[in-house]
Parts: sequence; C-alpha cells; structure tokens
Amino acid sequence: MHTRKLIAGNWKMHGTLAALSELEAIVAATHDDVDVAICPPFTLIAPAAALAGAVRIGAQDCSPQPQGAHTGDISAAMLVEAGATLCIVGHSERRADHGETDAVVRAKAEAALDAGMQPIVCVGETLEQRDAGQAVEVVEGQLDGSLPEAFERCVVAYEPVWAIGTGRTPSADDVAAMHAAIRAKVGPDVRILYGGSVKPSNAAELLHVANVDGALVGGASLTARDFVPIIRSA
Ligand code: G3P
Repeated sequence: MHTRKLIAGNWKMHGTLAALSELEAIVAATHDDVDVAICPPFTLIAPAAALAGAVRIGAQDCSPQPQGAHTGDISAAMLVEAGATLCIVGHSERRADHGETDAVVRAKAEAALDAGMQPIVCVGETLEQRDAGQAVEVVEGQLDGSLPEAFERCVVAYEPVWAIGTGRTPSADDVAAMHAAIRAKVGPDVRILYGGSVKPSNAAELLHVANVDGALVGGASLTARDFVPIIRSA
C-alpha cells in the first residue's frame, strides 16, 4: 500500500529545449511527501534527466523489441541509457493512432521491465462503452491483456478516453468504483493513477478518492503554473 502519491506529467508531443525551464520550476517545487515524474518527448529525456533532481523522468512509449531493423522505434535500453526510469505503455492515443493491441502493450511493458524501467500501463473505456454500461468490463479486459507477468512492478493509469483533453471528468463515485475494480485485480501494492482532464481546480478532489494513488496529467503538466498546484494537492 502506497502512502505517497505519484504525480506524473505526460507532455505528449509538446516541448523543445525551451520547455526545460518549466521542468526546472517543477523540480524546485517538488517536496518530500510526493513522488513526481515528467514524461517528455524522447528528444528531451537526456537533457531533462540531467536537471531533474528528485523528479523521475519517463518515456511515453518503447519498442517491444530489444534492437534491430525497426526504423523510427526506440528500445527500452536506449531510454534507460538516456535517463528514463519510467515508461508509459498503452496510452489510448497509441492504442487508437497506432493500432496497439493489448498484446502489443503487454510486450512493451515486458520490454520496459527487462530494461529496468517501471511501466505505467494505461487503460480506459470510450464514451460509447461507458454509456453501454461496459466500462468496468472493458478496463478489466484491458488489464487482463496488457499487464505483464510481473504486474506488481507496474503502475496502472486509469484514463477514460472521453475525459482526455476534454475538460470532462467522471464523478468521484465513478472514479472510486473503477479504481476499486482495478484494485481487486492488482492487489494492494500497485499504484493506480487517475488521468483525464486533471487540473489545479479538480486535483484535490480526484486525488482524495479511495484507491487513487496519484495522477497522470497531460495538458496541465506542461507549465509549472498548472502542475505545481497539482503536486501540492497530493
Ligand atoms: O496521459 C495523460 C493524458 O492522457 C490526460 O491528458 O490533457 O486530459 O490531462 P489531459
């Protein structure tokens, strides 16, 4: 059971070297009671790791392959060498834009673990699935298919697809119900993050829902102005 929350930022395809000034401000605001991570684009991992201090640096994806003729892909070992200690896998944008199946996500999580990174395995239902009353069933299926054998070494991020970048969030009751279902699958020691339109204005409420062990934050992690208050809500 984790008493410290993990507040992780996913910068997605945002940020050039100039964005490191935001990271510097985030590093300066980090305190001992919370774990903080930033997952910048691949190109910023090494320079971010050089100034990250206690902030963990993560990647947003990795290849399931260790090496070889895979143009444009990046292996988990390369990411570790650049300074990543975490790796998001199975984000809904990768599942949708790159056709990643649960089996691919699981292989990526295994590759991340083999290289020494902690995977953040993302799951979440679409609006159609929620409206059809299938949200828990869908997420349970994604967990069954995506988690690696050593699932207890992972972080799980519940990100309802319809809440990502929309300003909409599930009710606290719906978050509690989903996190309880995930908890029943992964046990007491796996951190379960909530992601989807987390902002300074709603972070405290979401972070205090039962079984919410932290947040995976997109847009509001891009500036220290928004991200630092979220860290302070933890
Ligand atoms: O991985 C985090 C993300 O998908 C949530 O994005 O912008 O809704 O916080 P956002």
